Parts: sequence; C-alpha cells; structure tokens
Amino acid sequence: MTNPEDLSPAETPGLPTPTGAALRRGPFREGERVQLTDPKGRLHTITLREAGAFHTHRGSFKHEVLIGRPEGTVVHTPAGIDYLALRPLLADHVMSMPRGAAVVYPKDAGQIVTMADIYPGARVVEAGVGSGALTMSLLRAVGDGGHLLSIERREDFAAIAEGNVESFFGGPHPAWRLEVGDLADVLPGAVEPGSVDRVVLDMLAPWENIDVVADALVPGGVLICYVATTTQLSRLAEDLRDDGRFAEPSAWESMVRGWHLEGLAVRPEHRMIGHTGFLVTARRMAPETEAPERRRRPAKGAYPTAEEEWSPEDLGERPVSSKKVRRVRRDLSRGEVRGQVPAPPTGARAASVPESADGSPGVEPDSAAPTT
Ligand SMILES: C[S@@+](CC[C@H](N)C(=O)[O-])C[C@H]1O[C@@H](n2cnc3c(N)ncnc32)[C@H](O)[C@@H]1O
Repeated sequence: MTNPEDLSPAETPGLPTPTGAALRRGPFREGERVQLTDPKGRLHTITLREAGAFHTHRGSFKHEVLIGRPEGTVVHTPAGIDYLALRPLLADHVMSMPRGAAVVYPKDAGQIVTMADIYPGARVVEAGVGSGALTMSLLRAVGDGGHLLSIERREDFAAIAEGNVESFFGGPHPAWRLEVGDLADVLPGAVEPGSVDRVVLDMLAPWENIDVVADALVPGGVLICYVATTTQLSRLAEDLRDDGRFAEPSAWESMVRGWHLEGLAVRPEHRMIGHTGFLVTARRMAPETEAPERRRRPAKGAYPTAEEEWSPEDLGERPVSSKKVRRVRRDLSRGEVRGQVPAPPTGARAASVPESADGSPGVEPDSAAPTT
C-alpha cells in the first residue's frame, strides 16, 4: 500500500493528477502567485521570485522568506506589520487577473456551472471568451476528460484569456480548444451537428446565434446565456420561443450579500454588488419535435402589436379606477388628506405625474392615498 506521505501533492494512486491540481497544495514555490492580506484586510498579489522583494511604505520583506514555507504563513516586516500569505483561490484569481473585457463574477460562474449542469466529461461550447474568467470554471467542471471549445471574435481578448487560463492551471489545459472568430462562422465547422452537451453564451446579442446553437446541441442539451439588461433578456426569451427547437426558457438573477461578523454586531454589509447580469436557460428538444403549448396564457398586454402603444399595465402598473380618481379629487377639493402622499422626487419622475384636464394635479397609481 502506498504511504500517503510518499505521494506528490494532489496525487491519487492509479489515477493521473488532474491539470493544475499539483499547484494547489504544498509549500510555496518560486514563480507562483501569492495573495498577501494586510492587517486592514487589503489584498496584495505577488509572484514569488528568488531575488524578489515586497515593498510598501510600511516596510518590506524578501520573497525568499516565503519560498518553501506552507500556506497560511504570516510574514512580519521590520516595521511590525503582519502579512498573511495564501494562494489565491479561483475566485481571487478572477478578481485580480488582467482583464480585457468585463468578467463573469464568481457568483454567476457558480450558478452557470450548477444550473447548466456542466459535468466531468461534458462537451461544452463557450462564446465569447473575453478575459477567460468563466473559461476556468468551465474547465474545472468538465475536467481533463471533457472538452471545452471557446470561441472569441477578438484576437487580443483571446490572447489575454489564454494567458489568464494558463497562469491559473500552470500551462495548457488538455480539455481546452480556443478558436478566434465569430461563433456563427466557427461553430458549424468545428463540431458535428447534435454533438454538444452544453452551450454557454456571454455576449451582447446571443439571439443572433440561436440557429447554430440549436444545430450543435444534443437533444436535451442545455443553452445558458448571461445577459446584462432586461431588454436583452426579453429579446432572447422571445427569439428562443420563436425558434421552436427549445423548451420554455427560464430566467433568474442572483444577489449575494456579504455579512459583517464582529461579536454581537452580526449584520449584512452596508455595500453589495447590486447587479451583475441575468441568466437564461433553455433545453434543446428532440429533432422534429414541437414545444408543448403553454398552458398559462400570457398576461394581458404582454405582447402588444406594433401599432399599439405601451400601457401602464404592460409595465406592471395597477390600473387606477375612475371611482378612485373621483374620490381623490373630491378629497382634495375638501382639503381632506387620507394618507401620506410621498413628495415626488425631482426630475423625470416628478414631471411624469400627469395633470388632469382642469389643470389640477393628476393621480399617480399606487402613490395616492391607500384605499379604505
Ligand atoms: C463580456 S465578454 C465575455 C467575458 C467572459 N465570459 C469572462 O468571464 O471573462 C463578451 C465577449 O464576447 C465576444 N463576442 C461577442 N459576440 C461574439 C460572437 N458572435 N462570437 C464570438 N465572440 C463574441 C466579445 O468580443 C467579448 O470579448
């Protein structure tokens, strides 16, 4: 039997070491990135060099004091400042790596891997690649035995992504193929029709690629798209329905709120990332199969015809009855106040409160006195 102490880091008897795993354990080595946390919680990322030194206005230390030491070591500078040294986790690497395009944040990458069911051995296509942040999570999920084809239309972004991915895994990843070009041009020639398990799109106009994606996916395959705005979300969902080869799409967003932990002062952090993007998934149906009719009828006004103007109901406002308007006007003329009407803010919204025909202030649905 093999003594665990004889094994190199991350080695499992009888199995090859997964790409990048050996770099995640053991003492600090020359050439690797180390994250230093100062007493105020600020992070500094350094690359260890034999002759290197870390300098701040509050003292310095030589990199050699860390080389060969275990993770979690604390270095003391002559000025008495302590720095905790740890390897960056994938999420730390993503947030500190050089960026060309905006990255998918770790909270969304986690959602994508889980909700799109990216599994070891899966054949996955990703576009665009941008800075390669999501690529690393996808490669980890498919593992050395999977396939990830990443397509990026900008050569300069593809080069940045390649640098970031290789620096994280310590070299090329055997499951990764990076192609420069437009998804719609590259994908049909790069994969067999009906052979891709999962497609992940993070780009401005994913709806332009629904046709090639539907051709590439296996029956039951998952398309997941990350979009930043509600207008993209709506266009994508409607175009997926119109295509007819996908089951009903579903959409969501995730919000993560950090917590302050100090003695009895345990509460949410005051600041959070309020918005990153929306995720939309849809499953590819079997060939020649029509999506089942939706049982639920769309909400009234959800699909206005081109000639129709948008109504308040289209935007989710509750209609205000004429009876309620009459009552509010009557109360106003008598000087009665039935509830606190919040002062309208300045600017567009204040100006949008309509005036009635006789010039008196109009009634804004939901902001007038509560119904009794
Ligand atoms: C927001 S970035 C992607 C960021 C990336 N997911 C990450 O986590 O680092 C969007 C990228 O999509 C690329 N792109 C847009 N449309 C594309 C298309 N049709 N084919 C290939 N790449 C495309 C853009 O050049 C850009 O680099």
